[in-house]
Amino acid sequence: MSILMCRPDFFGIEYEINPWMKVRNPVDREQASKQWQDLYLSYRRLDQTIDLVEPRPGQPDMVFTANAALVHDRKAVLSHFAYPERQGEEPFWWAALYDRGFEMKLLPGGVAFEGAGDALFVGDRLFAGYGFRTDIEAHRLIGEALDVEVVSLELVDPRFYHLDTCFCPLTRDVVMYAPDAFAPASARTIRQRVAHVIEVPIDVAVAFACNAINVGGRVLSSQGVESLKHDLKHAGFSVLPLPMTEFIKAGGGVRCLSLPLD
Ligand code: ARG
Repeated sequence: MSILMCRPDFFGIEYEINPWMKVRNPVDREQASKQWQDLYLSYRRLDQTIDLVEPRPGQPDMVFTANAALVHDRKAVLSHFAYPERQGEEPFWWAALYDRGFEMKLLPGGVAFEGAGDALFVGDRLFAGYGFRTDIEAHRLIGEALDVEVVSLELVDPRFYHLDTCFCPLTRDVVMYAPDAFAPASARTIRQRVAHVIEVPIDVAVAFACNAINVGGRVLSSQGVESLKHDLKHAGFSVLPLPMTEFIKAGGGVRCLSLPLD
């Protein structure tokens, strides 16, 4: 797998656009850099290719590459951020993905969409979140742009403002998800559409345990994933918990820091 990452050189809490971010709870820069490096080295040890995008001053959330776009089949649907605080990242993401040879797809102006943070494939089907950062109108447009079926899921808890904070596809038939972060009908949809679901209690999900990625049967996540070890083992996975405290201060974890490009 090739994974897009961005060094946390300019990372910090400079504004508050989700309930995790508190300007008065600043990032320990040294720790952040160490935690990011640990993730980077973990991927390298698992033989993943890391593709680095240049961090930009004044764009403290660029470290969260998952929000750049949704990529699929050499096409990239560029994000349009809900909050002006992050909209300045858009031209950098456009250039980074265009330079890497992706066929760029843009949504019509004014439609909010936050990339792989709110849209994740389970097999060939795209599961997309709405309610906080992505407009539901975006779902149909993405489905058309990529020619894929989209399953819309309503997020209801502001702490889980992106789909990838409470939903993680592990294989084409296994997902882990936090039912309480979804409207009841959406939680039901997940159970109906996916063969095997691992339910994550909300008190575990708040540690960003669902913000994870499966690399060859190893689930890389924040330390909170320890409490899911047995369920995951039962489903055939092992866990690789990583310290993510500094990124959680911004409302992000392992998955947010990673954008798989293939
Ligand atoms: N501070 C960032 C924001 O609120 C965190 C983004 C986390 N990314 C994610 N894919 N969940 O936009």
